[in-house]
Amino acid sequence: MNIDDIKTITVIGAGNMGHQISLQCALKGFTTICTDISEDLLKKADDFVDSYLAGRVEKGKLSTEQARDVRQRIHFTPSLEEAAKDTDYVIEAVLEVLDLKRKIFADLDRIAPPHAILATNSSAIVSSKIADVTSRPEKVINLHFFNPALVMELVEVVQGPHVSEETVRVSMELCKRLHKKAVHVKKEVKGFLLNRILLAMFREAFWLLDMDVASIEDIDKACIYGAGHPMGPFTLNDLTGLDLMYTMEMETFRETGNVADRPSPNLVKQYVEGRYGKKTGKGWYDYSDK
Ligand code: 3HC
Repeated sequence: MNIDDIKTITVIGAGNMGHQISLQCALKGFTTICTDISEDLLKKADDFVDSYLAGRVEKGKLSTEQARDVRQRIHFTPSLEEAAKDTDYVIEAVLEVLDLKRKIFADLDRIAPPHAILATNSSAIVSSKIADVTSRPEKVINLHFFNPALVMELVEVVQGPHVSEETVRVSMELCKRLHKKAVHVKKEVKGFLLNRILLAMFREAFWLLDMDVASIEDIDKACIYGAGHPMGPFTLNDLTGLDLMYTMEMETFRETGNVADRPSPNLVKQYVEGRYGKKTGKGWYDYSDK
């Protein structure tokens, strides 16, 4: 398979990551079909495309004709069958629930044409935990985008032991066509590459808060003004989701049993109270009036 064989991309999930990955694919010339079981999320994603494209035209970043073409290339449907039956490349971006992903990949293997690559955008689940439900494990790979996916340039292409060189090559080339900077992660390690580095920062930030060394605002301020980060760790965590952070940390803790891997008490409190960040209107900060 070659990159030029990829004309249609399917994105599974219209949430935080899925709707922006879909739009990025359509912006860069691919026919894109995004599917979700939630009609509400599909409607929100569809509305987002309209408002985003209108904003681009207003800012002079796209012409009216270009925006119209992008709009015509992107489709939303609740039917997985319809979304995947003629696809060349699938990017799954649903909740971080292993059984759900395994079910979706088994369905995709049945629906998608045999040549199609099946990628997961998972932050936490390596593709070797999913590939065995398909008849094409060599075409099942992690393609990990960063939030917000329309803006962040990095994509991690993670090669598990079952993944073919061809799948890696085509996936790296696809990232280039999507105007992303791909890095090849040669082994499946937990957290892949950047999240391992970010997690170390988050842990220190949470510890400083748990110990009441400084306020949330001041820890964020320190990272922005002392380290040149675009946003501090608490603001970033509100963007990516406290639920995702909690789930990732709990999973590590369950695996290692190491008390040092337990989520911070403040993070647990936020999670239990349903304060997941921007998406719930409250997290470390309050967004309810925005
Ligand atoms: N969605 C789409 N576009 C957005 C956006 C969003 N949520 N937020 C900002 N943008 C766009 C704006 O439209 C603008 O585009 P333009 O310059 O082409 O017109 C551009 O980004 C800059 O926007 P602003 O001036 O409003 O805001 P900032 O300069 O503060 O940038 C930011 C916002 C890009 C989010 C910046 O703060 C940033 O880079 N933050 C760090 C994000 C980060 O570290 N992400 C990685 C998280 S880890 C992860 O995703 C891993 C996963 O597994 C969880």
